[in-house]
Amino acid sequence: MVGGFSECIEKYFETIADLAARGLSVWCLDWRGQGGSERPRRLPSRPRPRHFDRDAGELALFTRTIPAAGWPRLLIGHSMGGAIALLCLRRYTDLFDAAILSAPMLGIRTGAMPPSLVRCISTLARATGLGICFIPGAGAWRPDRVPSPERSRVSNDPERCRLQYAWFVARAGLRVDEPTWGWLDASLRLAAKLARKEFLRGIDIPILLASAGLETFVSPESHHRAARLLPDCTLVELPASKHEPFLERDPIRNRWLEAIDRFITERVDRHSACAPSPMAPPPAGMTLDLRCAAMIGRLNHVAIVVPDLAAASGLYRGALGARVSEPLALPAHGVTVVFVELPNTRIELLEPLGANSPVRGFLERHPEGGMHHLCYEVDDIIAARDRLRSEGARVLGDGEPRLGAHDKPVLFLHPKDLCGTLIELEEA
Ligand code: CO
Repeated sequence: MVGGFSECIEKYFETIADLAARGLSVWCLDWRGQGGSERPRRLPSRPRPRHFDRDAGELALFTRTIPAAGWPRLLIGHSMGGAIALLCLRRYTDLFDAAILSAPMLGIRTGAMPPSLVRCISTLARATGLGICFIPGAGAWRPDRVPSPERSRVSNDPERCRLQYAWFVARAGLRVDEPTWGWLDASLRLAAKLARKEFLRGIDIPILLASAGLETFVSPESHHRAARLLPDCTLVELPASKHEPFLERDPIRNRWLEAIDRFITERVDRHSACAPSPMAPPPAGMTLDLRCAAMIGRLNHVAIVVPDLAAASGLYRGALGARVSEPLALPAHGVTVVFVELPNTRIELLEPLGANSPVRGFLERHPEGGMHHLCYEVDDIIAARDRLRSEGARVLGDGEPRLGAHDKPVLFLHPKDLCGTLIELEEA
């Protein structure tokens, strides 16, 4: 079970108990940067632009480490969690047997402005370094804003509408501030991706989708559309519900729970359970460290050493028709570099700079130039280094990350330990 933007799983204690009473074994994940999960050191409660693919990957990883019981697996997601759930279902097709989505964030309400215009503004704000700034009307979490059923945008219930507030008052470490431009920009992009016909048509497990009638966050129209496009979707409309059906007044909440009961009885029990997960569960007593378990991400670049940077740039720009940057001298690294931007990665052309350039020897052995290294992205370079070291890989230099050509920490690993290829790791 996964929650929405700013949520901590603590607020779902009542729902978790209700699900457990139905014989379900409930496992919960707080998204990175929310609840009790890992937070940035600086401004820990401020929402960052989310890497939703990474969130989906972490959900899959979390799910694979749950001991396989041979029973069907059900993914329950609310709002932003529901959107990430769809991303996860599309990418990891063997993980879940069915899904229950409550008010999934498939379309974001943007008031009087069309979403495309808001997306232009958010992209601009993020590109100009305002990603960490609040969107208009939003700000840091405030203890003096006590929710009431009238004012609450999530629930009409006098007690449940205050649940998250009460947890945030009691435990400052759980607090999350209101949306920033960076968060909004990433979320609008995700919504646009999920709205694609081909995307939704590729998710064929049974899905139960609750759409609330009194929404101010997500668009009910996007739910109707998704219910039509998803191959096997049951739509439950809750016209009197605000954004969080799990936290609504009893008549609404009970209707939603009854729909879930029906869905599980009719659609999940008959459905055969997922194949046992390919990853072995961790031994008893071992804690799951997502930072360690998740390792390399995208291929950031391939580096090629060349004897003549101007000639090589001309070749890529002319004969190959690529976008090529201006040369950038990096005296600290002993190279001059040019970036070739490709749709899925980039190529770095390197020319020795200075007498002690580390690539001069390479060029003596390969006078016409050649492939020098590959660079993989990692989330946490120190965790990646320590894990690789424990596996026997040697880290070049003093082993401490240095700032690379993209002003991000990098490390190099000995080619003899990695299939004869020099590997650079860059913190994404
Ligand atoms: Co490199």
